[in-house]
Amino acid sequence: MRNTVLVYATRWGATTETAQEIIRVIKEKFNIDIDLVNLKDKSTKNPDVTPYDNVILGVSVAKFRWAKEGKIFLKKNRQKLAGKKLFVFVSSGGAGDAYKEGDLVKYEQLQKKWIDSTLAKFNLNFTSRKALGGRYVGSFADRGDNRDWGIIREWAEEIGRIISSGN
Ligand SMILES: Cc1cc2nc3c(=O)[nH]c(=O)nc-3n(C[C@H](O)[C@H](O)[C@H](O)COP(=O)(O)O)c2cc1C
Repeated sequence: MRNTVLVYATRWGATTETAQEIIRVIKEKFNIDIDLVNLKDKSTKNPDVTPYDNVILGVSVAKFRWAKEGKIFLKKNRQKLAGKKLFVFVSSGGAGDAYKEGDLVKYEQLQKKWIDSTLAKFNLNFTSRKALGGRYVGSFADRGDNRDWGIIREWAEEIGRIISSGN
């Protein structure tokens, strides 16, 4: 049985691609299969996380907000998630820019803002978290794609080590 699920909320698809890469790396390096759930898909917007020991949540940040499905998921599943290992990433162009510019103070502030503070509002702890950059679109498209795939893969390996050891 699969004991890990990755649930995600995207607006323009970058979070989907990042989620797929995390799953691919964990499969390749640890031979662990992970279920993938799109919270925007009507048929899967209320996933039952009860059977899983590990939950990875990925959320798009834009217009100074989490994609709302991410918050709805935390609200609905707060109690169930409290007993599980929770890994959280955001696709945040702002955090990706700060990292690329070498402004690690700002990067860390944005991680705290977009992950730690949000989780704290729901009274939830996480095992590991990461702001993973994103891909600007529309009128911001010239800012490009600032995801660092090396960092995405490293973080996936960290998750893989934790869930494979069961610690
Ligand atoms: C209209 C718009 C607003 C955005 N606002 C923010 C923002 O407030 N903070 C931020 O860190 N990134 C912002 N971004 C960049 C997004 O984080 C980036 O596009 C990310 O990849 C979105 O994830 P998604 O493609 O999964 O929806 C914005 C991008 C767009 C197109």
